[in-house]
Amino acid sequence: MLKKDQFYKDILDGLSLFYDSRFITDIRNSALRFPVSQLGNALNRRQTASKLWLLDRLFENHGGELGEVHVLGGWYGVLGALILHDPRFAEARITNIDLDPSCAPIAESLNAVNVERGLFCAATADILDIRYTGSNSVVGDTTLSAPDILINTSCEHLNDFAAWFDGLPPGVLLVLQSNDYVSETEHVNCVEDLEAFKAQAPLAHLIYAGGLELDKYTRFMLIGRKLGDV
Ligand SMILES: C[S@@+](CC[C@H](N)C(=O)[O-])C[C@H]1O[C@@H](n2cnc3c(N)ncnc32)[C@H](O)[C@@H]1O
Repeated sequence: MLKKDQFYKDILDGLSLFYDSRFITDIRNSALRFPVSQLGNALNRRQTASKLWLLDRLFENHGGELGEVHVLGGWYGVLGALILHDPRFAEARITNIDLDPSCAPIAESLNAVNVERGLFCAATADILDIRYTGSNSVVGDTTLSAPDILINTSCEHLNDFAAWFDGLPPGVLLVLQSNDYVSETEHVNCVEDLEAFKAQAPLAHLIYAGGLELDKYTRFMLIGRKLGDV
C-alpha cells in the first residue's frame, strides 16, 4: 500500500472507531478498492449537502417510512447509504440504478453493510427503459420491485427528460433534483430556476418545492406525485 493510502486509511479507521460507523469503514474500503476521482466528487461537500437537504425535507414532508426506494441515476449509491445510515428512515430498502456499469460495484462496496443486511442492491440500466406495471417494474429481462418512492437527483443529466417523466407511474412519490450548473458539459438538462423545473416536471400533488444555494450553483428539488389513478 502507498504511504499516502496508509495515511488516509489510518485516519478513516480511527474515525470509524470513534463514531462506531460501518459507513466510514465502507467508505475507507471503497476508496482503497476503487481509487477513482469521481468517488471523491460523489462524496464532496456540495453533493453531500444536497443529499442531506433531501433527507431533511423528505422526512419533514413525508415521514420516515419510505418502503421500496429506487434511486435513479444513483451513481455510486451515496444517497442510498445516507438514507440507510440515518435512523429516521428505519424501514427503507434501496435499489440503485445507473446506466454506467462501473457504478454498481462501487455502490455495493460503499453500501457493503447494507448489502449484508439485504437492504441495498445496485442494477445497471438506462432508466428510460424501465417499464412500470402495477406490481413491479421491468427493465430488459430483469424484474425489479415496485417502488413506493422514485428518487432522481440526476435530472440535469437526462437528455430526454420528457420521455422519462411520461413513463413514470402516477401515485408513486417522486423526489427530483436538478440544478442550474450549465458549465458542466455532462449537464444536458439544467433548469434556469425553480419555476422552470416545476414546468419541466409537472406534479399534481406537490408537497415540497425549493432551492438550495451552493457556492457554484443552485440545486432545485420537487417532492410530489404525478396526476392519475393510483
Ligand atoms: C454525475 S452523476 C450524479 C450527479 C448528481 N447530482 C447526484 O449525485 O445525484 C449522474 C449519473 O446519472 C447517470 N445517468 C445519466 N443518464 C442516465 C440514464 N438514462 N439512465 C441511468 N442513469 C443515467 C450517469 O451514469 C451518472 O452516474
